[in-house]
Amino acid sequence: MQKLRIYGPTRLQGTIPVSGAKNAALPVLAACLLADAEVELHNVPSVQDIRTMLRLLEHLGVENERLGDAVILRPTGRANPDEAPYELVKTMRASVLVLGPLLARRGHARVSLPGGCAIGVRPIDLHLTALEALGAKVTIEHGYVEARADRLQGCRHRFLKPTVGGTENLLMAASMARGTTVLENCAREPEIVDLARMLTAMGAVIEGAGEETIVIEGQDRLGGATHAIIPDRIQDGTYLIGAALTRGDVTVDGARSADLAPLLAKLDEIGAQVEVGDDHIRVRNDGVLKPRSIVTEPFPGFPTDLQAQYMTLMTQAEGVSTVSETVFENRFQHVPELVRMGADIRIDGTYARIHGPAALTGTSVMATDLRASACLVLAGLVARGETTVHRIYHLDRGYEQMESKLQMLGGRVERID
Ligand code: EPZ
Repeated sequence: MQKLRIYGPTRLQGTIPVSGAKNAALPVLAACLLADAEVELHNVPSVQDIRTMLRLLEHLGVENERLGDAVILRPTGRANPDEAPYELVKTMRASVLVLGPLLARRGHARVSLPGGCAIGVRPIDLHLTALEALGAKVTIEHGYVEARADRLQGCRHRFLKPTVGGTENLLMAASMARGTTVLENCAREPEIVDLARMLTAMGAVIEGAGEETIVIEGQDRLGGATHAIIPDRIQDGTYLIGAALTRGDVTVDGARSADLAPLLAKLDEIGAQVEVGDDHIRVRNDGVLKPRSIVTEPFPGFPTDLQAQYMTLMTQAEGVSTVSETVFENRFQHVPELVRMGADIRIDGTYARIHGPAALTGTSVMATDLRASACLVLAGLVARGETTVHRIYHLDRGYEQMESKLQMLGGRVERID
């Protein structure tokens, strides 16, 4: 089991490149199941979840090959099983994103129910109700979802609440349904816009991605494409929070400020200096951090995936702030670990109240999920002494070589077996 050892306190200073967004690459890879020709993807991040998705695509009959920074995907046409087995799905719930494309292209899909994860139950009822609206026959038994449809039929469907994965599954399914589909109350994340851009390059006809209502004209076939994945706003946001936290000065080359507007506004409010260029974002802080509260919301609100990292930042603010988590029901598992490092945080339901500044000290801590791991690494950078973060396989699911990026910024971080 690998660990990260971090020595603090330290200032993060310097420039790092962006990585491709894991949460854009995953649906874009699933969309390759719709293509009847080769797809060339660029900026695909080299993280565990992507390797899992590539293995799943192999299993489903889509070969892949890495050529430099590109990944080439080729449909084999082999009569592979239309099934995503539990062994693969249990390690990555985003495997559920193959449901829509398999159903649309092959008329059948059998996908293991993803099961919950550390941050919540994470059902897929909103995906299934929408697929049934398109005419799919859906059954759930023995822990698997089975869906069948000779040809999906376009319709108007309103999601009960915004769901990123549900919107992505339906974008892919409707792209090869018969007729027009109107999806209402869609999620608006930048990763959805990136998926729509890729589907359009394959021949799909989509209007309104990134807005609440998306209109899709179904096609009989979708071809190959070349597509570059957008930068990872959550990874970028994590390092920019690190700059404010450690009273450093960090520039992220290639970062897209429009994707990070809520975070950048908050960093400005708390007193950090935010500089936005055409293709970079710079955050500096040499003063006192003011306490400012956040409520996590679907895009364009403050992203739940930056909630834990922002909480670490607020442990150093001069005063009381609150963090309200409204997207997931159990996303405060990083709090007990931060308290063990000396943070003063009290949880009241979906609210956490943070009293700062707290002098954090290094110790051994346990990562529980992807973003909690990142928040503990950040805490280690500002804590006095040595912090060891255990179970960093959580971190490796979504952060590309975090220790080398932090070393580039002057962080004293090492990976140990
Ligand atoms: C995506 O998860 C991201 N994952 C998550 O990032 C992110 O936290 C989340 O969107 C919210 O932004 C990927 O893109 C691979 P949802 P997803 O469907 O699609 C409930 C990370 O750290 N819900 O928008 O699963 C659900 O339980 C990960 O990279 C239903 O009730 O999120 C949650 O409470 C963590 N029924 C809320 O909606 C459904 O059918 C939002 O979920 C679907 C979702």
